[in-house]
Amino acid sequence: MADEKYYVTTPIYYVNDKPHIGHAYTTILADVLARYHRLLGIPTYFLTGTDEHGQKVQQAAEKNGLMPQQQCDQTVVRFQELWKRLEITHDDFIRTTEPRHKVIVQEVLQDLFDRDEIYRADYQGWYCVGCERFFVEKDLVEGNCPECGRKADAIQETNYFFRMSNYQDWLIDYIETHPEFIQPDFRANETLGFLKTKKLQDLCISRPKARLAWGIDLPFDSDFVTYVWFDALLNYITAIGYRRDDVQFNQWWPATHQLIGKDILTTHTVYWPTMLKAMGVPLPKTVFAHGWWLTGRTKMSKSLGNVVNPMEMADRFGVDAFRYFLIAEMTVGQDASFTEEAFVRRYNSDLANDLGNLLSRTVNMLGRYCDGKFPGLGKDALSGAPEKELWAAVQSAVAEMESSIDTMRLNSGLTAVLTAVRKVNQYFEIKQPWTQAKEGKTEAVGITLALAAESLRVCSALLYPVMPEKMSELRSVFGLGKPVLSQLKTFGVIKSGTPVGSPGILFPRVELNNAEATPLPPQPKKEKRGEGAASAKNMSIEPEKPEGIITYDEVMNVKLRTAKVLAAERVEGADKLLKLKIEIGEEKRQLIAGIALYYEPERVIGKTIVVVANLKSAKIRGIESQGMLLCASVGDRLTLITVDEELPSSGAVVK
Ligand code: MSP
Repeated sequence: MADEKYYVTTPIYYVNDKPHIGHAYTTILADVLARYHRLLGIPTYFLTGTDEHGQKVQQAAEKNGLMPQQQCDQTVVRFQELWKRLEITHDDFIRTTEPRHKVIVQEVLQDLFDRDEIYRADYQGWYCVGCERFFVEKDLVEGNCPECGRKADAIQETNYFFRMSNYQDWLIDYIETHPEFIQPDFRANETLGFLKTKKLQDLCISRPKARLAWGIDLPFDSDFVTYVWFDALLNYITAIGYRRDDVQFNQWWPATHQLIGKDILTTHTVYWPTMLKAMGVPLPKTVFAHGWWLTGRTKMSKSLGNVVNPMEMADRFGVDAFRYFLIAEMTVGQDASFTEEAFVRRYNSDLANDLGNLLSRTVNMLGRYCDGKFPGLGKDALSGAPEKELWAAVQSAVAEMESSIDTMRLNSGLTAVLTAVRKVNQYFEIKQPWTQAKEGKTEAVGITLALAAESLRVCSALLYPVMPEKMSELRSVFGLGKPVLSQLKTFGVIKSGTPVGSPGILFPRVELNNAEATPLPPQPKKEKRGEGAASAKNMSIEPEKPEGIITYDEVMNVKLRTAKVLAAERVEGADKLLKLKIEIGEEKRQLIAGIALYYEPERVIGKTIVVVANLKSAKIRGIESQGMLLCASVGDRLTLITVDEELPSSGAVVK
């Protein structure tokens, strides 16, 4: 990492509505990047905030019967609370209605006006209210806005314009000679394609107050307010002291990474650089556009009712698991799909099974075979082939994570860490410390467990920026504090004799019943290390029966029965749910199943399915469900478990 500082920004979010998953994603991504850079010891600044002017906010205020400023003050709290909940570590939060921002916007406008970069003119053309953008007639697609497809209005008015068109050739050249400026590459090509095929227009930077009053007054004409984008983009520099504090400004600007969603590419790669050029300010190093979160394959939208609420996800599944899923699941640049099924699958497999299980196995065995203390490493600890191989896998996770931060491929970094975690679980299978212990090979057991713990130390450090809470918990088990990245390549950092704490279950498994994911059970309280802390050797879970494995008796407690589906209908207002009437032997029951996306009601009637018959009944969407049916699911396919041959009656025992 060559740069001596790191400045990362998110878009500033409109306060017309509460935050959604798109806002949460960009902010978590920026947070993860900021945390990695801080760990690397690089001076870091992380800015986020809210975009509080313009038509969208004014309209929301009108709808809610509020003054625009009240609308802002009420909604900004939702963002601030969410960032707190999601453990976001921004250094500043800027609101565009703050005086520190407004004053500078006016100074910039005055300066550009004085230098004839901004001029007044009569405008006749087309305007899209939704996008708040002007278009010439030939840009329209059958009379509609080329960006959002909504109807564009013909308009005629006097306005102020920024001479953006003067910078077209310069901008093309800049983008071509600075390949890092717009990332991923295909987004640079998108902007270039547009710049090379269309004549760049001057940018209308004002709105007559008669039409829109909610904005920053133009300093040279009080009949107008500033166009919301011209105002908003400047937040990236007003927040860090532009025109007020040169020391602070020069310390952070140009920004290293400006993160945006793909829909605001033009404003950030055409308006913003030309504005900066006219102001004589250098351009940010990289504008990075990520893709969109979809619900399944569908765009999220309020009208479809499929918008994921980040606060709810954090409450149901835990903040760190939510952060992990978002970063692991999206290849930055591409769209990604959010479904609860995918969430639960990844959570259970990566976090509950692989990582959580590894921690409890390691701790339990340290308790049982090493008296609850870290055994220390003989000098030959890395001399065996399996040990060498394991440590190499851990080190390749370090290398992959390092390079993935620079290239914004954090999901690959996480994959490499999880691969290393799985390697440790495999290493246990190869070394079988429980057999080593039985055979009295004390030193060998010590090496095996110490290697696992050292691997966990490194993996938890790599995962720390993504899951700060959980990784702190994990690390405290081995007496470790905040990670020190310079120690990642060193073997043997945990001190011999360190008492090993009791972690509780780091990631309890989540069951996704047919309809809805069950919330996480209450997390066991963290045991304090030291006095009074339960020693690991007292823990009841046998290392040979790792987390996620159940006993024969436990299986026998689950009563699986065949059932005949007598009737089926959709549940109103819940597009995933079917209400089934089933028969288990003599008994009739009602069951709510989340299979409506895969089965029309008619297709299930008459089928013999398999149900968990002794599940406590529950209300789903207020309707009673007495049992759970079994399905097989892979990717986006799902099929009911049925019987191979019809039996004389329903209610047969499934064993
Ligand atoms: N206020 C402007 C940005 C001004 S920056 C100087 C704005 N605000 S927004 O609230 O509408 O959107 C903010 C960000 O959320 C954008 O980057 C947008 O791409 C992102 N997302 C909105 N929906 C999204 C998804 N479904 N998925 C991922 N991000 C998406 O635009």
